[in-house]
Amino acid sequence: TPLSHIRNFSIVAHIDHGKSTLADRLIQMTDTVAERDMKEQLLDAMDIERERGITIKANTVRIDYTAQNGEQYVLNLIDTPGHVDFAYEVSRSMRAVEGSLLVVDSTQGVEAQTLANVYQAIEANHELIPVLNKIDLPASDLDRAAEQIEDVIGIDASGAIPVSAKTGEGIVETLEAIVHHLPAPKGDRDAPLKAMLVDSKYDPYLGVVVLVRIMDGVMKKGDKIRMIQTGATYGVDRIGVFRPEMTVVDELGPGEIGFITASIKQVRDTRVGDTITHEKKQCETPLPGFAPSVPVVFCGLFPVDSSEFESLRDAIEKLALNDASFSYEMENSAALGFGFRCGFLGLLHLEVIRDRIEREYDIELITTAPSVVYHIYMKDGTMEELHNPADMPDLTYVDHVEEPRIKATILVPDEFLGDVLKLCQDRRGIQMDLTYAGARAMVVYDLPLNEVVFDFYDRLKSVTKGYASFDYEITGYRPDNLVKMQVLVNDEPVDALSMMVHRDRAEMRGRAMCEKLKDLIPRHMFKIPIQAAIGGKVIARETLSAMRKDVTAKCYGGDVSRKKKLLDKQKAGKKKMRQFGKVEIPQQAFISALKMD
Ligand code: GTP
Repeated sequence: TPLSHIRNFSIVAHIDHGKSTLADRLIQMTDTVAERDMKEQLLDAMDIERERGITIKANTVRIDYTAQNGEQYVLNLIDTPGHVDFAYEVSRSMRAVEGSLLVVDSTQGVEAQTLANVYQAIEANHELIPVLNKIDLPASDLDRAAEQIEDVIGIDASGAIPVSAKTGEGIVETLEAIVHHLPAPKGDRDAPLKAMLVDSKYDPYLGVVVLVRIMDGVMKKGDKIRMIQTGATYGVDRIGVFRPEMTVVDELGPGEIGFITASIKQVRDTRVGDTITHEKKQCETPLPGFAPSVPVVFCGLFPVDSSEFESLRDAIEKLALNDASFSYEMENSAALGFGFRCGFLGLLHLEVIRDRIEREYDIELITTAPSVVYHIYMKDGTMEELHNPADMPDLTYVDHVEEPRIKATILVPDEFLGDVLKLCQDRRGIQMDLTYAGARAMVVYDLPLNEVVFDFYDRLKSVTKGYASFDYEITGYRPDNLVKMQVLVNDEPVDALSMMVHRDRAEMRGRAMCEKLKDLIPRHMFKIPIQAAIGGKVIARETLSAMRKDVTAKCYGGDVSRKKKLLDKQKAGKKKMRQFGKVEIPQQAFISALKMD
């Protein structure tokens, strides 16, 4: 296909505004998929993606479209991940296309997530086509939605296309706008090969399938290629396009988007954003903006049943093969036994991996409280990254601690603004901006990431009855008065409950934890102090009083079978007990104590 007849685009939308439905409709109206093969949400391949309605991996589809002017066009749609955790992946997908459909639900208006992705599109120099979706619904308000696009995003919305992805209205107009308003890709067929590795995934039959966008040159089957960032070389086994099923082609030329397989063993061997070139005739400069992905949120994953440790190791290793942004190392906790300290791109990423382990591998897990990566500056001038609060070095060697901060953008109806400001303030936020768009406020806060990973999003949803939308980006590290809080049960520290907290909030958090544990730990024959402490200084304390009577006493010695049953039950319960000095704590107590509420 000549460059002039190729259009590459993505769809930018807030969750539930209809991105997948619109993609389905574009595919269907161009007969890309036979009617009998049409299933909903064609592009969301993984079960978890489909179930949770989120896109984790970039997917692509090639659509052949005969425009109203009679010309044949090839339209390549890249469906990008829609969540902040995958912001880098989104940015690469955006660089692989020239334009975006900006889908706004006309019954809802612009939301925070739309904003974040729109900025990515604008940064990638995209031409944008505003699409006002769900016009079939009575609550649809086209003028208001268009006005918000102009006010909040600042682009012209006069040519916005009213669409119902449900009924198909406006779909032809959308296809025509893609052909006429989006620029054709540029590229030089005779230049050395330069292609972007947009994403990769594991296919049980084909091995690693790499999604590529050709910038310059031509790629063919049998080519010897080189990944510039990793330095690895491969021979191309298979080359093709997604329609959306994989279809082999002879070659991919400039402006085209497709896939290759090259006997790559693990997704881990590929890096999103890497530049692919020919081993023999290499391009001079790699594509700009490459960044290896680094985990920002860590937590411990432990099997509830310690005999499942080996199965957990197996599951984690398998998942890691296909997810370059997920890291893990073994961890041994006195409270929870053997497990893994795992790093993720964000909370959603964490949840997805945890779900998959529990579901696909059938292992019940204990997840410790998520923690961000702290920078610990030592008095000797060195810096250590802290991934696990339990590893915090002795305070006498520490000069200061820095934590990651974020820029959070929240869109909220006026009536809930006060609650949102209070929530941000409570979480050590610094207000940076407050503007209005109609009856909604847009608040921008500088917040510590650690206050957000805990339960911020849930709190935000609850104080705004679900009406707020939220998005964030990490802005950098800043020092603050951060300390490690330990929990001691009968004077023994419980490693799994250690956490980093701001000094001013330590008493409150410590008190809450002690109160919770007091209810969770069973009574013993002696008094048990439960304390929260910072570097040896106790900041909160509860006492669990001693048990008075023998548990079997209430059986009056009469009913032997009942007495035996009770003892058996105790024995079974003991299996899930952990010993701390003289105290036995049921595993369940840790699970409950670590639950966020
Ligand atoms: P994510 O995959 O979570 O990003 O969501 P999405 O933006 O892909 O939204 P999706 O296409 O899953 O649509 C969300 C909901 O809106 C679904 O229940 C759709 O059936 C519905 N929906 C999408 N487009 C329309 C439309 O034009 N009219 C109506 N009435 N409903 C629509």
